[in-house]
Amino acid sequence: MSYTESLTQTYTIADIGKVIDCFAADLDMTSQSTGLLTRDLVKKYAADVKAMAQKGYLIEANVVLKDSGGNVIRAAKYEVSTDAGSLTASRPGNNRWPATPGGELSVVVRNSQKWRDLTDSLRAAFNETLSISWISSSTDLSFPGLTRYADRNYVSNGWGVLELGLPNDKIAASTKRRVGFEARYQRLHRDLRLLADPQELADWSKKFHHKELAICAAVSDRYPLVIFAGDVGTGKTATAEGACDRLAREARKEAMLFKLSTRVRGSGKVGQMSSLLNEAFDVVAKQAGKTRQAFLIIDEADSLAATRDTIQSHHEDKVAVNTIIQKVDDLRRHLGRILVFLCTNRVGALDPAIVRRAARTEEFARPSEQEREELFRMDLEGLSIKDETIHELVRLTGARDGQPGFTFSDLRSKLLPDALCRAFPSRALTGDDLIDAAKGVRPSPVVRNGS
Ligand SMILES: Nc1ncnc2c1ncn2[C@@H]1O[C@H](COP(=O)(O)OP(=O)(O)OP(=O)(O)O)[C@@H](O)[C@H]1O
Ligand SMILES: [Mg+2]
Repeated sequence: MSYTESLTQTYTIADIGKVIDCFAADLDMTSQSTGLLTRDLVKKYAADVKAMAQKGYLIEANVVLKDSGGNVIRAAKYEVSTDAGSLTASRPGNNRWPATPGGELSVVVRNSQKWRDLTDSLRAAFNETLSISWISSSTDLSFPGLTRYADRNYVSNGWGVLELGLPNDKIAASTKRRVGFEARYQRLHRDLRLLADPQELADWSKKFHHKELAICAAVSDRYPLVIFAGDVGTGKTATAEGACDRLAREARKEAMLFKLSTRVRGSGKVGQMSSLLNEAFDVVAKQAGKTRQAFLIIDEADSLAATRDTIQSHHEDKVAVNTIIQKVDDLRRHLGRILVFLCTNRVGALDPAIVRRAARTEEFARPSEQEREELFRMDLEGLSIKDETIHELVRLTGARDGQPGFTFSDLRSKLLPDALCRAFPSRALTGDDLIDAAKGVRPSPVVRNGS
């Protein structure tokens, strides 16, 4: 890893093409994982960037992801090495940026002096040959809010805390629209209750066995930590929120939910993860001290592993991981009404000391045939879509031709909006629109578990 890495080889024009193909492949993957650009547009961007590079008009090309609030949350920079006139070769991987509904993925280029030296008419003539009408951008290409890692990538280093009172009607309403939530919750909820409220178990033991059984002590010895692990967009965060809401309802108590995430920037406190963790655990412990129930969701825990590449954030990660371990240990001594959920799509990359402490690890997978069918029937209600169309949609969105099946979020945030855009605003939505969308949209790439 280096900030000033430069290439030693000299590339010919043909090699520029090769490097740009790599840029195009990266952009394609990023577009798929964020759900924000069509393949057609990706091809146009790549062709234009290639043309600019080959003419020597390019200093750098940046791929920039903004969230729905307009904050830059990820970026990748491809620099042209001045002597060779090519883009720096990129390392593959690290392109699975988060699905970002309502966000914006764009390519921002910085042009060379050679470009600026052109006459207006030459510039206009060159622009005519491009596929996209490029406009000027005010994006700060030093990406002040981000940390650089892995050669050309930038990540947001700001974590945010969101605090919510439970029960929460908004969470309850969206839980109702989650396929398979109820079945999973039925499997989970007794165990979660034991973890969240050991006193309840002691009371049960006294009531039915007239003393505190040894088994209760063994069960209470566990750490109140649950890991939700699985591929992107499979419902980990949604299920954790839904479970907290339901547990609060069952206990008939007011409860607080704290959510620590990189995606709540702008809506809550922002800062280094370890200090936010410390604060969050302290508040959670205080809440529990007031005999109220408290939940903490540590979301996207994989971001901890994802930033291991840089020395600077490596230290920060270590501190954060140690804080989690120490605070979870404290919670057990506390015997409070506290439950911590940790969501990750790369459980293999988590620190083993954390994984070992988890009382339970719940796996999340891409939806099965039945689950996809249930989702289509739920979301397409009122459209009189034929059964055979639904079955075809289920088939098209399954694993096939070497590509994985669609995730829940691929279905809801990519396929259905894509179908809708084919009809809206000029005509009614048809089964063919849905089939075409299912053929055109590609599922998110599978996240490798260990790295
Ligand atoms: N069980 C489900 N039924 C229907 N839709 C779902 C379900 N689970 C998730 N979704 C859809 O997928 C979206 C993503 O879900 P969620 O954020 O919980 O996934 P995740 O596993 O936490 O993903 P990531 O790994 O990217 O954080 C939700 O907003 C929702 O639209
Ligand atoms: Mg999530």
